[in-house]
Amino acid sequence: MLKISAIILLFNIIYVSSFYLPGLAPVNYCKEEDQTKDCKSEVTLYVNRLNTEESVIPYEYSHFDFCLSEDDSKSPVENLGQVVFGERIRPSPYKISFMKNASCVHLCDRHYNGNNKDDNMRLATLRKGISLGYNHHWIVDNMPVTYCSDKKNNHIYCTTGFRMGCYSRNKGSTCDMEPSNEPAYYIYNHVDLRITYHSGAKEEWGSKFGSNGGRIISVKVTPRSVDHSSGSCDGANTKMLKFPPKPLGKDEVFNIKYSYSVIFIQDNSVKWSSRWDYILESMPYPNIQWFSILNSLVIVLFLSGMVGMILLRTLYKDIARYNQMDNGEDAQEEFGWKLVHGDVFRPPRKGMLLSVLLGSGIQVFCMTLVTLAFACLGFLSPANRGALMTCAMVLYVLLGSPAGYVSARIYKSFGGEKWKSNVLLTSMLAPGIVFGLFFVMNLVLWVKDSSAAIPFSTLVGLLALWWLVSVPLTFVGAFVGFRKRAIEHPVRTNQIPRLIPEQSVYTQPMPGIIMGGVLPFGCIFIQLFFILNSIWSAQMYYMFGFLFLVFIILVITCAETTILLCYFHLCAEDYHWWWRSYLTSGFTSVYLFLYCCYYFNTKLQIEDAASAFLYFGYTTIMVFLFNLLTGSIGFFACFWFIRKIYSVVKVD
Ligand SMILES: *[C@@H]1O[C@H](CO)[C@@H](O)[C@H](O)[C@H]1NC(C)=O
Repeated sequence: MLKISAIILLFNIIYVSSFYLPGLAPVNYCKEEDQTKDCKSEVTLYVNRLNTEESVIPYEYSHFDFCLSEDDSKSPVENLGQVVFGERIRPSPYKISFMKNASCVHLCDRHYNGNNKDDNMRLATLRKGISLGYNHHWIVDNMPVTYCSDKKNNHIYCTTGFRMGCYSRNKGSTCDMEPSNEPAYYIYNHVDLRITYHSGAKEEWGSKFGSNGGRIISVKVTPRSVDHSSGSCDGANTKMLKFPPKPLGKDEVFNIKYSYSVIFIQDNSVKWSSRWDYILESMPYPNIQWFSILNSLVIVLFLSGMVGMILLRTLYKDIARYNQMDNGEDAQEEFGWKLVHGDVFRPPRKGMLLSVLLGSGIQVFCMTLVTLAFACLGFLSPANRGALMTCAMVLYVLLGSPAGYVSARIYKSFGGEKWKSNVLLTSMLAPGIVFGLFFVMNLVLWVKDSSAAIPFSTLVGLLALWWLVSVPLTFVGAFVGFRKRAIEHPVRTNQIPRLIPEQSVYTQPMPGIIMGGVLPFGCIFIQLFFILNSIWSAQMYYMFGFLFLVFIILVITCAETTILLCYFHLCAEDYHWWWRSYLTSGFTSVYLFLYCCYYFNTKLQIEDAASAFLYFGYTTIMVFLFNLLTGSIGFFACFWFIRKIYSVVKVD
């Protein structure tokens, strides 16, 4: 009942948010003269926060001294995912009117005087932004404004951001020029916007507009640095605007004049519904995706074959022999995994912690599964910004009940009595760790005046979600779980624990655990590269179909490796499987952590300490959640397997 209502609630949230979110329904535009209430003539341009690959810290548009919109009240409503992940969408002063070309429109002037300390500070912020390669992210009609270049071997390559300026230093140059010995900075103070639209198909939006109306297909930008002292923005003799490489001296002045040009181009070859394709297509290497899937599938097939062969054949033989032996008069001594039947279900040490981790693991598992399923169905398309994270967070909160239920049942089956601590820990431990880390990182971002620092009200909102929704739901789940009878095990546990014989190197706990994570990690690591890119390099991730497949493969490999290793350990008469099964597949997260370190060293050029701290903070959260996820998959697979095999052997 609870589950059903949760699902209905979720559907409502998604339905409502997609209903309100612009961009999922097409917007009709028309010329100013023809404006009616069915169409808009004003094309609004929103600016988002700026980010860079060289630092983890994003900044709001107004952090830099650009031209700002006078009217800040028109900011669009952002969802939770956007706020928590640092997106700040603000109105801009650019005034664009549909189908009206404009050339070199003056936007605003900025004056800096060397005698003024504040002016030099503002210049320093801009200079730092340019030299760290901060990227603008603009939005028009709920589409990212793209910057397309054909540098990469004649393949046109579009990105969703563009630099705020360029530099040329002895190290290298991001401008189209040779690196100079003296550092030179240029600010992009002019943009050429090129808006293509689809028009004329009267039956689509009524003959009211005809060829005077249309829908926006794409907005491409070319940023330039223009020294306006020579007059116009275009022409042969325009020079780039040199940005002072050092703070201004006494009585020195520096002026920046911002401007823009807009051209509208009709293009009826692209349908409105496929307008995202060109952005998604220019994302790099879709072929590698297939390769990665193939790679993972090979691992899964190989592993499944092994598990199938070994387990089915040997198990079948084992069981046949065990059961035959009981019938025979001349019973030999028992051997193999049957020997430990009186101990396999002996409750583990630290059963409380294990049950809490498992409960939280189930919560993460269900959240991932449902989020990915929604993403595959296209609910969480890139047009629906922030929806993915909002969905994940809301789901996590709503899935408190399964966590409480699972944790309670496992804890009860361990014979635990302290049910109050169990419930409290389940509802507090994992969310507490995540929230605590998040809070500390937020402090750093806040000190750095970054846009990713979430407002206090949002922080309170998150706390409320946790304390007022998630915790009560966990209590409900736990209540139901404790009311049920404890899980019955197929064999009884002996009074006196059996002695575990000396183990060989391979069957000792540590080597098994370390090996256990290798194969699951091997399945995901290519996909991981894209996911990390989408988190840290602002590349859009949209291949949720792939991701879903990889997730399923991950679940299968985690389960199979754990079962396999578990079987070997039981055969070696080592019956401490509870924690080991959790740790075996959970060790994948350690590899994930190592991979993130590798990614940090090779792909990102992060130098400042705050950024590094934030990177590892977020990584720790990710690794922790991933550990809960993989660990519980391994545990439940092993649990199921052991219950199965001990329920078929006859024990007197
Ligand atoms: C705007 O400029 C483009 C390119 O020069 C041209 O093709 C188009 O017809 C112009 N549009 C209008 C409405 O003048």
